[in-house]
Amino acid sequence: MDQRELSSAQFGSNADAYLASSVHARGADLDRLRLLTETIGPSHALDLGCGAGHASFAMARGGAHRVTAFDPSGQMLAVVAREAAARGHGTVDTRTGSAESLPFADASFDLVATRYSAHHWAQVPRALAECARVLKPGGRMIVIDVVAPEDPVLDTPLQVIEFLRDSSHVRNYRVSEWGGLLQAAGFQSPSFDCWKLPLEFRSWVARIGTSATRIAALEAVFADLSDEARRYLEVGSNLSFAIEAAWMETTAP
Ligand SMILES: C[S@@+](CC[C@H](N)C(=O)[O-])C[C@H]1O[C@@H](n2cnc3c(N)ncnc32)[C@H](O)[C@@H]1O
Repeated sequence: MDQRELSSAQFGSNADAYLASSVHARGADLDRLRLLTETIGPSHALDLGCGAGHASFAMARGGAHRVTAFDPSGQMLAVVAREAAARGHGTVDTRTGSAESLPFADASFDLVATRYSAHHWAQVPRALAECARVLKPGGRMIVIDVVAPEDPVLDTPLQVIEFLRDSSHVRNYRVSEWGGLLQAAGFQSPSFDCWKLPLEFRSWVARIGTSATRIAALEAVFADLSDEARRYLEVGSNLSFAIEAAWMETTAP
């Protein structure tokens, strides 16, 4: 399987789990996205890697006159369409594809948001260039994603844990890497707000259908973590732990 097929297989068969997941369905970042959409006013918003659509629904609640929920997985988009109808969000439509090649005309959107998706993208620089292309000049770009620590002693265990849990994981980038990636795509003075996202081990692996073999490997990795990594990941009882997420905000050139 290539990366795209791997990711679609991982997510497609677990689409309803992402709708139900409290990690995805809740969060101050969703309220912030709704408020930002209200501030922008009537807008066409794009949700890249929409999954089960939580960011799309936040932007619809914020009054976007149209929200396009975009994802490579047709099964995820079927969940979004079903749930948008159930919630009365008639402004949400769906479109299939990958962030690296957006099927939209230049300057189509006032707001592009992507939440907990970019660490699956095969080519982030290409995807960000596409975001810059489809945004109107001065349009808002919001990236919400797990970020890696700057210290390699902590970064490596994080990527290992993420990859063992989900073989379609590509990379959690550091804030410093995101700054360079956004600026290389022409985005102006990005700002970053970070927080810790608590995760419960059993539901975290169940959500993506991690195999028993991989779960055993994860348990072995957790058991052998350095003190520094254990502190950074805030490893607690039953292997609950926490990862760092960031709200990254910038404007299109
Ligand atoms: C964790 S889920 C997204 C969660 C969702 N955005 C939310 O806020 O609840 C990650 C999503 O990224 C999508 N994805 C993976 N590779 C992608 C790519 N290259 N371009 C766009 N989306 C991608 C997956 O299909 C999956 O639905």
